[in-house]
Amino acid sequence: MTPDPAFRDDVLRGLRQQPPAIPARWLYDERGSELFDAITRLPSYYPTRTETALLQEIMPEVAERVGSNRAVVEFGAGSLTKTPLLLEAIQPALYVPVDISGEYLQASAAELAGKLPGLPLHPVVANFSDAIALPAEASGLPSLGFFPGSTIGNFIPASATDLLRHFRAVLGTGALLLIGMDRIKPVERLLAAYDDRQGVTAAFNLNLLHRINGELGGTVPVDAFRHEARWNDVLSRIEMHLVAARNVEFSIAGELFRLAAASSIHTENSHKYGPRSARLLLLAGGWTPLAEWTDRAGDFAVVLAEAHPERFAP
Ligand code: AVJ
Repeated sequence: MTPDPAFRDDVLRGLRQQPPAIPARWLYDERGSELFDAITRLPSYYPTRTETALLQEIMPEVAERVGSNRAVVEFGAGSLTKTPLLLEAIQPALYVPVDISGEYLQASAAELAGKLPGLPLHPVVANFSDAIALPAEASGLPSLGFFPGSTIGNFIPASATDLLRHFRAVLGTGALLLIGMDRIKPVERLLAAYDDRQGVTAAFNLNLLHRINGELGGTVPVDAFRHEARWNDVLSRIEMHLVAARNVEFSIAGELFRLAAASSIHTENSHKYGPRSARLLLLAGGWTPLAEWTDRAGDFAVVLAEAHPERFAP
């Protein structure tokens, strides 16, 4: 397998800096995606099941607010449990899943087409953070962006607002956005969700080191690292780290790296928002909240927002 130059560059650049950090998107290779899927079924990982139940419950109200003649653009290939809830409820004019993995997109689109025959489906292979050319069929239609899963939480606020502004530009005037955002909750529950007793999240995090060894010819001693989930209260986020249990030395692509015992490689952030910080993030990204829903416990929120009109006014 020829190494992905972007993976190699991110890993080398990330490990050269202090403290070492590698962008979270590299956690999601095939094995990583399988492990994430297993995470979503863990008893302690509440977000997926909470959001799915919430979406189911609110769909009649969402459909009423959104109407039926929209192009639905989903950022990410879509989950076969959440996406049909939306598509069945609103009967869109068009459904456009956008995902960087063409293979994954094809497979999930095929399954969706089986589930919802007659759905006008137009997948677009692209990284949702980059320029996206919507299919010609979408032109002239008002759109609805769909961004579930609290994926927005993976981005630091400065990048999250950039991404929200980018979505607004892609979706055009009159657009709506339906977005899932995880809420702040007691630290014990957050830590349990990101450091499960079964060790699945640990395997998910450590898989990054296996991937570095396998794809970049690294010599990382994986057993010298352990998974750690930390709550960063100032930045309101869960952080995943790979902590060195002893002094370690390894090479990647011919470059030597050293980590002292107890130091770590930072591998993922999962930002959590309160009601006001969630609204402020959306507003800063060019979106005006119209309605928001949470489960009874207030563990997870789904917000419907409207693209700010561009106008000269306070
Ligand atoms: C896919 C980003 C929503 O932050 O909860 C789960 C990723 N990492 N357990 C999250 C994740 C560890 C997940 N997101």
